[in-house]
Amino acid sequence: MKTKKTRPSGKSKKTSPRTGKPASKKPSAVWDQAAQWYDALVGLKGSEYQKAVIFPGALQLMQLKKGDAVLDLACGQGVYSRYLSQRKMKVTGLDTSEEMIRFAQSRSDSSLRFEHADAQAPQALQGKTFDAVVCLLALQNIESLLPVMRNVKRWLKPGGRFVMVTTHPCFRIPRQTHWGWDEQKKIQYRRVDLYGSESAIPILTPPFAQSQSFTVTYHRPLQSYFQALTEAGLCVDGLEEWTSHKTSEPGRRAKAENRARQEIPLFLALRAVPWAD
Ligand SMILES: C[S@@+](CC[C@H](N)C(=O)[O-])C[C@H]1O[C@@H](n2cnc3c(N)ncnc32)[C@H](O)[C@@H]1O
Repeated sequence: MKTKKTRPSGKSKKTSPRTGKPASKKPSAVWDQAAQWYDALVGLKGSEYQKAVIFPGALQLMQLKKGDAVLDLACGQGVYSRYLSQRKMKVTGLDTSEEMIRFAQSRSDSSLRFEHADAQAPQALQGKTFDAVVCLLALQNIESLLPVMRNVKRWLKPGGRFVMVTTHPCFRIPRQTHWGWDEQKKIQYRRVDLYGSESAIPILTPPFAQSQSFTVTYHRPLQSYFQALTEAGLCVDGLEEWTSHKTSEPGRRAKAENRARQEIPLFLALRAVPWAD
């Protein structure tokens, strides 16, 4: 299958959302700046969506046994690392942001290991292997998929599993998808303006108001994920689409809103395993 790429991953242009000028910051610097805001958002145990939907869903997909070694890739301030450690896994967290790693260490006990490295770097965690690698809500923040997937293949023990969760790339594309209301049919619908092109979308990270205070979301169509996984030697053996656990306050549109929330998934979860050599 051929991929139509208007902007190949790794060559996307980043611009400041305020100035429109090209942004020069490395991902580590971008996330260092956002670390305090993100830590306050997620806290010790996770955001509402993480606790209700993402954490238990990813745990089930990973099919772990007590004592398994798990790499929490792009672990942020370590919220899922702690969740897994409490369930008796041996956890290593890796993140490109020193500030995130600092928050992770300060919020976790010493049985958890945290490493500062770029998930795309071929030298990251050389010689280390794991029963599972998990990457939650972060691949969409990483510029190049293929080097990450090659590393994942290298890090997995035979029989190991890779589980990734992103906001759903078909329905949740920043600035390109929106809820709409059809008054005639009385339905809430999801409008998708652009899907097939890869793009880099700057996202302001409050409460930082300076012009360069933003992170970048890399939108990719589903086929980009499948291509990178396959090229790296990983085979998708599980796919789930998770909806929001929330419901609307009673009101005229509540029934339609709840139905739309259940019909149109919020998160995509993929599990992949190494191809047999
Ligand atoms: C939205 S946060 C998600 C953090 C965590 N997985 C969670 O669920 O709370 C995205 C994380 O990806 C990290 N990140 C971005 N680019 C990265 C890279 N190239 N290598 C490793 N981590 C990266 C950021 O530093 C940030 O901590």
